[in-house]
Amino acid sequence: MKTVRTVAELRAELAEPRRAGRRIGLVPTMGSFHEGHLSLIRQAREHCDTVVVSLFVNPTQFGEGEDLDAYPRDEQRDAALAEAERADLLFAPPVAEVYPDGFATTVRVHGLTDVLCGDPDRRGPEHFDGVTTVVSKLFNMVAPDVAYFGQKDAQQALVIRRLARDLDIPVRIEVCPTMREHDGLAMSSRNVHLSAEERHRAPALWRALDAADSLVSGGERDAVAVLAAARSELERARIEPDYLELRSATDLAPVEQVNGSTVLAVAARVGRTRLIDNKVLGGMP
Ligand code: PAF
Repeated sequence: MKTVRTVAELRAELAEPRRAGRRIGLVPTMGSFHEGHLSLIRQAREHCDTVVVSLFVNPTQFGEGEDLDAYPRDEQRDAALAEAERADLLFAPPVAEVYPDGFATTVRVHGLTDVLCGDPDRRGPEHFDGVTTVVSKLFNMVAPDVAYFGQKDAQQALVIRRLARDLDIPVRIEVCPTMREHDGLAMSSRNVHLSAEERHRAPALWRALDAADSLVSGGERDAVAVLAAARSELERARIEPDYLELRSATDLAPVEQVNGSTVLAVAARVGRTRLIDNKVLGGMP
């Protein structure tokens, strides 16, 4: 696996595979790899001829007071893990390569980005502006046939699908299942910040989703009842959610009755660490 740091090097490396009609897969990441990232790289390896992993801690998606400086970084370790998964290229640009002096463009997907994590009282739509701007750039830099994202960031995945559709970017977006620890906690680079006591309480997010899911599988459809079941699991672990909401899994519209495509999304601070998770209820796609 080769590491490249500039767009020029990246394009030079991809010129031959592209000319040869090889299928190029992109796994965009901010590094600090865990099994979730590795599962995306494995998917890309299985279905693509050339696998590009991007590693860029994108400053524009961090709000004021968020953990940009504290965000875990270990490029050497990440490179070794990506290589072990047989990625072909690691694209790890410095900030100035992605945002050169005078950079003045923002890509915004409206609507989907001002609810849940994008609610102005939470991270705000500006968080997603950072994501959609950098992902647009990565799509232009790599020009992948397929790009891989995790279902853990369900809202991000929907926003990126909409971005690609609205801007006619010829890339297929693959959304892969959330990887979990043995006790259900969704794998996240932020989990390293949890103290032992917080780590013990954190799986309550998953238990809340699971409790709601069991109720729906048993026939319950009323949003108030489903949310109450989830909330009581969080209360048991003394976790106050930032949000706990039932929304359409296709356009994030609020729902009052759980139907064939409803996602339960949760965000909560456990100690100082903000965790998110979600589940599409009733085993429905
Ligand atoms: O999900 C992430 O790690 C980031 O939001 C992404 C998609 C790599 C953009 O910086």
